[in-house]
Amino acid sequence: MIVVMGIHIASAGVADFHQVLADHPRYWGERDLRSLHLLALVQEFGSTCLVARAEDGIRGYVFGFVTPDGTGYVHLIATRDDARGTGLGRRLYAAFAEAAERHGARRLKAITSIENAGSIAFHRGLGFDAEIIDDYNGPGRTMAVFHRDLPLDVSRP
Ligand SMILES: CC(C)(COP(=O)(O)OP(=O)(O)OC[C@H]1O[C@@H](n2cnc3c(N)ncnc32)[C@H](O)[C@@H]1OP(=O)(O)O)[C@@H](O)C(=O)NCCC(=O)NCCS
Repeated sequence: MIVVMGIHIASAGVADFHQVLADHPRYWGERDLRSLHLLALVQEFGSTCLVARAEDGIRGYVFGFVTPDGTGYVHLIATRDDARGTGLGRRLYAAFAEAAERHGARRLKAITSIENAGSIAFHRGLGFDAEIIDDYNGPGRTMAVFHRDLPLDVSRP
């Protein structure tokens, strides 16, 4: 468990999964990404599915896993609307990267929609390369695909 300024970053449990789904708009606004939240990830990849807990609840979370070829894949990362811009997203990524490295990851990958300018800026800020790939998510569904090597320095890209 990592504890900084009253925020504990630790493995997500089933109750955490249901809590972030219940509070979905606080993490994702008007976008409905509930169908991308898979309990199987928390159940089967618990050590790379992390929540940032504080006294007032879950401030952010990252759900991901390590592929057999050594890629730490971030499926979802979000910080609560009142926790943005405080460095929490960076800390969650750092915690995920450490966990992924323990499981043999040598690089990180994530994807986002090309409309999600905040996510693209966030990932670039963390030192990811962003590649725009046509039809990545099916016909006409262009995605931004992010890659970077590990290790991920917690404070600097
Ligand atoms: C993207 C998100 C996780 C960033 O979390 P955060 O806690 O605000 O990020 P941090 O405060 O750790 O910021 C880390 C860096 O990214 C940059 N950054 C974060 N969000 C940004 C934005 N919307 N626009 C520009 N830069 C941004 C910060 O400036 C910071 O750079 P710095 O450390 O060099 O100053 C958060 O905005 C969020 O939850 N968005 C909604 C969900 C989402 O779209 N998730 C990503 C898709 S999977």
